[in-house]
Amino acid sequence: VVGGHGHGGAEPSTEGAPTTAGTPITELVADPARPADVRVELVARAERIVLPGGEAVDGFTLNGSTPGPEIRARQGELVEVALRNESVAAGTTLHWHGVDVPAAMDGVAGVTQDAVPPGGSSTYRFVAEDAGSYWYHAHQVSHAQVAGGLFGALVVEPAEAAEPPHALDVVALLHTYPGTSRTLDGVSGEVRHVAAAGSLVRVRIANTDSSPTVAWASAPFRLIAIDGTDLHEPGQVEGLRVAVTAGGRADLELRVPPGGARVQAPGVSLVVGPAGASPPELAAPAEALDPLDYGEPAPLGLDAADPDRDFAYDIGRMPGFLDGRPGIWWTINGRMGGDVPAYVVAEGDVVRMRIANGSGEVHPMHLHGHHAVVLSRDGVPASGSPWWVDSLDVGHGETYEIAFVADNPGVWMDHCHTLPHAVEGLQTHLVYE
Ligand code: C2O
Ligand code: CU
Repeated sequence: VVGGHGHGGAEPSTEGAPTTAGTPITELVADPARPADVRVELVARAERIVLPGGEAVDGFTLNGSTPGPEIRARQGELVEVALRNESVAAGTTLHWHGVDVPAAMDGVAGVTQDAVPPGGSSTYRFVAEDAGSYWYHAHQVSHAQVAGGLFGALVVEPAEAAEPPHALDVVALLHTYPGTSRTLDGVSGEVRHVAAAGSLVRVRIANTDSSPTVAWASAPFRLIAIDGTDLHEPGQVEGLRVAVTAGGRADLELRVPPGGARVQAPGVSLVVGPAGASPPELAAPAEALDPLDYGEPAPLGLDAADPDRDFAYDIGRMPGFLDGRPGIWWTINGRMGGDVPAYVVAEGDVVRMRIANGSGEVHPMHLHGHHAVVLSRDGVPASGSPWWVDSLDVGHGETYEIAFVADNPGVWMDHCHTLPHAVEGLQTHLVYE
């Protein structure tokens, strides 16, 4: 899908929906009269989790497990998720990370809905318009609830795939529960999937932790998608690691060697191969694949040279008071948290944003409801496949230029996905005038 989310692709599900200026009215996409194609009930509970390795932690579950059930839909299908909060005392919600849902379905407590109290429920309905790898998570006291287990995978398969191109298509959710070792799909250590030698496998890595991580593989692979958007003609990679920012996804495709392959992240791995295969464990490669020049260039689908809005977004740190508490807080353009003015756009605007970080730490920045394309880093223009993101690591000293189309009216959070940082001031909003 070149050009990414909502920029010129077919939108089968909105056919016949009322439009303004050619844009489907997103609120009507989840028409209550339309029956759901995929319907899931999720019951959230606060409970003690025992990981398969025996480690235990007081956390949260969805339908009795963490991660919650994997939700799979086909592009164009209407997904309906009924959330019931049984015992999460602070209340909870579900946010569809990376899915450009209508604003009312975004699941952000205090912004798009109230937190669902214990005994309450809330139903989310949205059309899965873009194929790709996503995840869902609580967005109420997120830094505690996500870490504690209120999350799961969401995969949207392409509408037209007559035959699945991959013999095996699996998600690898990376997660660290408070005080435990890192897990992959809730398992510490190693997860195994059987796949015949020679078969093509897709591994959808999602980083649900609050800090950026990396992944690598024991066999040559292609990085075929980032944050749910396919890369254009991505080449084969060997001996490089791939960055997976907090909240981000990286989809690897590889052909299974006779002895199987191991896809690794620090502390965990996923083995694909014939039963009993034991591919080598490798140390993380020293060099990283750079998405800035990976894959073949293709049109962006927007004119970033002549934007309707041009914003600066400078991340810093300063001492002050936030919610009455003294501390050293993260800032955006010199202000923190609720004092940061919202970025105001009009529907249809091409928005360019220059994000600079002089705060001393990396920040995985996440914009809700939109995907942005990376134009440049530190003045070096992107020269590979259009690199669309919903979550982007901005390292200390780095400057990124990104662009997106304001095509999803609403009030949208824009925050650091090192979730404690969002509480510590690193959050603002994108609003439509
Ligand atoms: Cu993945 Cu505002 O969150
Ligand atoms: Cu941060």
